[in-house]
Amino acid sequence: MMGGLKTKAGKTLMFRNIFSAVLVASASLVVGAQSSAVSYDEATKVFRLDGGNVTYTFGVNARGELQQLYWGGRLGATDPIPQAVPAREWASFDSSYTNTPQEYAGWGSGLFVEPALKVTFSDGNRDLVLHYDSEKTIPDGFNIVLKDVKRQVFVTLHYLIDPGSGIVARSATIENREAQPITIEQAAAAAWALPAAHYTLNYLTGRWAGEWTLTQEPLRPGERVIESRRGSTSHQANPWFAIQSGDHPDENSGEVWFGALAWSGSWRITVERDQLDAIRVTGGFNPFDFGYVLQPGQSLESPVFYGGYSAHGLGGASRLLHHFELAHILPHRMGEGEAAAPKPRPVIYNSWEATEFDVSEEGQMALAEKAAALGIDRFVMDDGWFGQRKDDHAGLGDWYVNSQKFPHGLKPLIDRVHALGMDFGLWVEPEMVNPDSDLYRKHPDWVLNFPGRPRSELRNQLVLNLARSDVRDYILAFLDKLVTENDIAFLKWDYNRNWSEPGWDQLPPDEQKKVYVEFTRNLYAVLAELKKRHPKLEIESCSGGGGRVDLGILQYADEVWPSDNTDPFDRLTQQDGFTYAYTPQVMMAWVTDSPHDLEGQRRVTSLPYRMLSSMQGSLGIGANIAKWNDEEMATAKRLIAAYHQVQATIVQGDLYRLISPRNGSEFSATQTVNRDKSQSVVFAFIHSTQEGRGYPLLKLQGLDPKANYALTPIEGAAEKGTPATASGAWWMNHGFNMSGRFKGDFLAAAFRLDKK
Ligand code: GLA
Repeated sequence: MMGGLKTKAGKTLMFRNIFSAVLVASASLVVGAQSSAVSYDEATKVFRLDGGNVTYTFGVNARGELQQLYWGGRLGATDPIPQAVPAREWASFDSSYTNTPQEYAGWGSGLFVEPALKVTFSDGNRDLVLHYDSEKTIPDGFNIVLKDVKRQVFVTLHYLIDPGSGIVARSATIENREAQPITIEQAAAAAWALPAAHYTLNYLTGRWAGEWTLTQEPLRPGERVIESRRGSTSHQANPWFAIQSGDHPDENSGEVWFGALAWSGSWRITVERDQLDAIRVTGGFNPFDFGYVLQPGQSLESPVFYGGYSAHGLGGASRLLHHFELAHILPHRMGEGEAAAPKPRPVIYNSWEATEFDVSEEGQMALAEKAAALGIDRFVMDDGWFGQRKDDHAGLGDWYVNSQKFPHGLKPLIDRVHALGMDFGLWVEPEMVNPDSDLYRKHPDWVLNFPGRPRSELRNQLVLNLARSDVRDYILAFLDKLVTENDIAFLKWDYNRNWSEPGWDQLPPDEQKKVYVEFTRNLYAVLAELKKRHPKLEIESCSGGGGRVDLGILQYADEVWPSDNTDPFDRLTQQDGFTYAYTPQVMMAWVTDSPHDLEGQRRVTSLPYRMLSSMQGSLGIGANIAKWNDEEMATAKRLIAAYHQVQATIVQGDLYRLISPRNGSEFSATQTVNRDKSQSVVFAFIHSTQEGRGYPLLKLQGLDPKANYALTPIEGAAEKGTPATASGAWWMNHGFNMSGRFKGDFLAAAFRLDKK
């Protein structure tokens, strides 16, 4: 059924899609005297990519290795780039090969730093030394072929630079032209290098309900491993890093090199300060338990590893990444080139926290009535509507409508939702199965398992082996049927556990580890095909909250669910961490009931506080609105209407973190400015005022200093005497104070500024 959807094809499609818009835009966006963003000097064998404010260069050294030369602020168009010279040997212990910052080093010849590629040949040889073979210059990039010094193993390195942001997309295709199979034990998408200096590393860590902690530490000698071995992206670490020059992270200034890996399977990024204090960042498939057999003539494509540079601190880095994601990664983009972006997300209502599994036609209709009265755009029914799903013990895998709960199918509910002026979304968890399901009883062999070994359950469920073509076809078929037979605008695609016993017993033992690649490729293939058949269908990537958020899934997913923790105070730090890597456009944020019971935590917060916390991202309501009184309904309605007016600025504008909520901060504040600087939105939060202290002066950023802006409160008030209208220069240099009454616990205020 999905013959055309070879895993490799899915990947190729993905890579081309990203840059189709870039290619169109390249010529007009190149700045300076250059006629092209890429150049290759045959005499010096130097390759150069220029885009945005960035130059990236590398060259072929005398030994034939591809060596990184420079990555940083944009150089003059005619500046000389010296030829690549291998690093020197350090006594008799660190060879020149190991000290030279290679673009993609094979493990061989005494390499002691992290290799990009490690293979075992069928005769037992494990030595691989990659030398430059040939190049092809393409619009905005290069394809560069490396070859082992003896054997017929070829690696094509793909480079593309985005003319707007200067973000470089790198990936590798590894091809076996030997007469015998080879086994790939480690394959990176790319390795990035920085010269010896002091740096601070930033990365994102967490756990279920505690995702998106920005972890910051000095880059010390040795290797910091950021990874997931879990089969999917994970809550515990996210495939993003940012390295800042100097010993202290800085939001507004300083050089930052950052990167993000587009892969939703097991991944690894190593950040290494090597024996000579130089930095190498290597990322791709996680080599743990990895083993990909390439038969003669076969090849393996790595994921894409994006890398960028900003001279404007961590804030500058995240603003570049947000624009890049909007313009080149996310689905449903409208417009061309750098200005392309998807529409802001509909404001949703989701029933999960209101009803959990206890869904019914009547109950959902009642919620829909109230949701419509609030001004909600989309009504989403969560878990519980299918199979014999009463709780989390049964039903996953049986994707037919539960006839006790919905005797007439979903149509009456969907029709009612439409009549109320909303579109309809539905929860699914396609890759999972409960042992108590018809599907599992029929196909016990469809799950990841090692025959004869126990099958470990988590949340009473097992993982279907999506690497299998029959499982892939089944998942595509049921989703296609569901969306064809029902008027569904949106799927919340959940994934509620990580892997155990990752066996694929259909294949010979030495090929079974391919599951780590093929599972994820088939996930992308199903998503791509489903979207092809239903071009308007929108998808949320959820994995028990933020367990599957990365630039791979975001080519198919219009939004993500950052966390099952909807406590509005916890969300402030989570949202802060999230936005270092991902645009607020995809950051769904529901307002839920207070107290939000998270593992016994009982924090009470006001509705305006909860609303404003969620309004920093793509707003949704997930409370039991059936119980809301008139005052709550009126407050939410007023703030949803206010949000609709400024949503595009909040979720697609330039984000400035004025006061960080991290490290137990008493206050936090953010500001966003839209592209043409005609509008800005400010959010201010108080955790707990101590000793009657006033709120810090808010000096805004990113406005047009010469334009006049009028300040309008959305919630709360500025200090008496604050001008109603003042220049951008005034708001940025003089700044404004909050009202003296803005003191207490869990308070929030928001303002909009509109250019006059
Ligand atoms: C996960 C999701 C929740 C909800 C439940 C349903 O935990 O993150 O939002 O959809 O599954 O079972």
